Amino acid sequence: MGLVYKARQLDNGREVALKTLHMHLVDDDEARQRFEREISMIQRLQSPHTVAIFDAGIDGTVPYFTMELLDGLPLQRVLGGSGALPARMAVQITLQLLQSLDEAHTLGIMHRDLTPPNVFLCRHSTQIFHVKVLDFGLAKHFNQKGRSRLTGGGVALGTLPYMAPEQLKRGTLGPTTDLYMVGHLLFEMLAGHNLYRGMDNAQIVHHKLGKLRVPIHGEPMQGPLGSVIHKALQIEQEHRYHNAAQMRQHLAVQARLLPETPIPPSLLEQARPQHTAAPGEPTRAFAPPTRQPSLEVDADTRPHPKPPVTERRRNLGQSTRPPWEPPITMEQ
Ligand SMILES: Nc1ncnc2c1ncn2[C@@H]1O[C@H](COP(=O)(O)OP(=O)(O)OP(=O)(O)O)[C@@H](O)[C@H]1O
Ligand SMILES: [Mg+2]
Repeated sequence: MGLVYKARQLDNGREVALKTLHMHLVDDDEARQRFEREISMIQRLQSPHTVAIFDAGIDGTVPYFTMELLDGLPLQRVLGGSGALPARMAVQITLQLLQSLDEAHTLGIMHRDLTPPNVFLCRHSTQIFHVKVLDFGLAKHFNQKGRSRLTGGGVALGTLPYMAPEQLKRGTLGPTTDLYMVGHLLFEMLAGHNLYRGMDNAQIVHHKLGKLRVPIHGEPMQGPLGSVIHKALQIEQEHRYHNAAQMRQHLAVQARLLPETPIPPSLLEQARPQHTAAPGEPTRAFAPPTRQPSLEVDADTRPHPKPPVTERRRNLGQSTRPPWEPPITMEQ
């Protein structure tokens, strides 16, 4: 739905992350509403583990907002590079994630799309990764009926493996919906793969609807964190954790039983702050079709960008793909 760019704010020179609605969605009322809702949700959140928003507006016809520019990498890149994470590291990430959710839930906001690309691991000088939750594009207030992300033809789109059963059943969503997704993330960090590895969408849906038993097994379930995952992933909402604080507490208690294991040097290297841009490096001016913007960005918003004209072009949201390919968008 969105595109994220590295940009520079002209009035104060600050580097920011700029998120715009994808060009092909600017006339889509539902997408615009969701984008605006994302802005209003993040504006209310203050947790150090939720990405901070600076500014929002409309440039011509394209809505945008700017956020703090994070230095690090999304969880899926860390998992892609390292496979399973050391259990203590997975716990630290999950505890921080739950801190962000605790605040959101207290304000009546649920995220609904907690997936590895939406959990950003910032490099930090004194800790191994500082977590920031991103992408409140699907966030909603409690008690609104959840919209299923299945097409009429039954094809799952987006992030089916993480979705809670009540999202598929159009049931009433609540904090337990997000905590179910956190259970999946914790399993994935410990196992190095998703719980539903090797299963097709129909099997996943059947499991989530309680029609197919999928025993949750594997190494993560045998250790002290198995009971946490087990409770978070209950099909019935009333059997799960009721709130993020409860899950944090149980996780912290179980984590004390974990053996000390060294963090692999490759992960330490990824977690160390790095210098990414040369000081004073110029950025290419953003030239929208309608009027002069208040921002410079080092990528443009054309729906199908041509091959790169500069090495500096950088789309943060698509960093694993060659920069000249059209951005991937996922229907939601
Ligand atoms: N503030 C930021 N600083 C650095 N990188 C960011 C920032 N926000 C997002 N990104 C990068 O961009 C990617 C996509 O961001 P985000 O999840 O907000 O957009 P999206 O998935 O395209 O949104 P939507 O789900 O609304 O379509 C993230 O996985 C991350 O790599
Ligand atoms: Mg996202």
